[in-house]
Amino acid sequence: MKAGISSISIYIPPLYLSHDDLADARAIPRDKFRIGLGHVNMAIVPPWDDTVTMAANAAEMAIETAGIDKDEIGLLIVSTETGVDQSKPVASFVQGLLGIGHRTRVYEIKHACYGGTVAIMNAINWVKSQHHRGKKALVITSDIAKYGLNTLGEPTQGAGAVAFIISDETEFIHFLPDLNAFYSKDVYDFWRPNGYLTPIVDGKYSIDCYLEALDFCTKDLQDNLIRETGKELLDFVDYFMYHLPFPRMAYKAHCRLLATLNPTLAEDAINRMYEESFTEKMKPALMGSEEVGNIYTGSVYMCLMSLMEEKSESLIGKNIGIFSYGSGCGAEFLIAHIGRGMKQQAKHLNFNKQLKRRKKITMEEYTELYSEQGASKTIKREDVISTDDEFSRYFFTGVNEHKRQYAKNRN
Ligand code: CAA
Repeated sequence: MKAGISSISIYIPPLYLSHDDLADARAIPRDKFRIGLGHVNMAIVPPWDDTVTMAANAAEMAIETAGIDKDEIGLLIVSTETGVDQSKPVASFVQGLLGIGHRTRVYEIKHACYGGTVAIMNAINWVKSQHHRGKKALVITSDIAKYGLNTLGEPTQGAGAVAFIISDETEFIHFLPDLNAFYSKDVYDFWRPNGYLTPIVDGKYSIDCYLEALDFCTKDLQDNLIRETGKELLDFVDYFMYHLPFPRMAYKAHCRLLATLNPTLAEDAINRMYEESFTEKMKPALMGSEEVGNIYTGSVYMCLMSLMEEKSESLIGKNIGIFSYGSGCGAEFLIAHIGRGMKQQAKHLNFNKQLKRRKKITMEEYTELYSEQGASKTIKREDVISTDDEFSRYFFTGVNEHKRQYAKNRN
């Protein structure tokens, strides 16, 4: 057994907006969102959820799935680009809510959507070092992607959290870290200046930056793989997943990867290659992005959850290529190997179950939530979820003397 991920859990807020309703309200053809971007629905955060509650909900499920006690955790990292405080880390709130002990290293990481991968790699290095003293790491990605009403980014919003238990011995997910390819560059493609509630984005340029990073990382990963294993990327990797700000990005990204690996092929040949591999190697990973939208730091790991819901135990023995991108920008292309632990994890995915329990909101409710910065007179917790809901366990109750207040349900 080797170091890696020993459990993974997702939390999706219990409200959603249909992209068809959004398109109609904005007088945009529905196909632009459905086909041009690939979206169906997007998650909307209710007044009682925020980055902290989503992180705590996902984390508690990951701890239960791993079957460990909270006092076995010695490192807690939250990666987010939508934290609730400029100084106090989301990780500290989570530590308090979950009752994780004081002999724990607790911090927050930010690098736009790439931060989750940095946190996972830091945690793996920690459990491999002598510092971990037999303890495990809890890593959480949690974000609310919000661009503003009537903006070009509006259809690419979403919210959710993904949590991981990382341990020095697991049979679930191992990375092949000698292969990882990295890229970073100082660019302004998407950013949120201090004091801004929503980001500023140069949308088309952000896609160019993403694809440039992918191009660079693909070449390095291919070289590293050939050097270490003698095999080529397309032969070695069974499924590809990419950071998905919107589902159609998978098409753009995979075509770019194929073109990078086959520089002499014309565009129509690349498109044919894409069509041949799409159903088997890509489609099973898209469900989350189609239904939830962008969850920034957790986006690429929501693809992994989608793939697991779809393929379950058949993933054992498979290699997954994971391309993580964060604006600003930073990127990493890594390969994960799925082991026998998938059998146990398959019993606890709960992704489809959470999607099925969601309540659809109207454009009026969406607009009210947005304009009131998350407050609502019409959406009441008791009308949406039961008081002992098994997924929404922690909830935000308000701010008292500048301090955010939280509570836990009966579950
Ligand atoms: N039927 C079918 N398709 C249609 C259509 C219709 N009626 N009308 C338009 N389309 C297609 C367009 O042809 C286009 O497809 P291609 O890209 O394949 O050409 C697609 O719909 C999008 O339309 P536009 O080109 O007009 O794009 P837009 O101006 O609406 O902007 C966006 C799209 C740039 C993604 C914008 O939503 C945005 O800025 N989003 C936020 C930023 C973002 O997601 N950036 C991604 C890379 S950065 C990153 O990954 C980090 C992160 O998470 C933010």
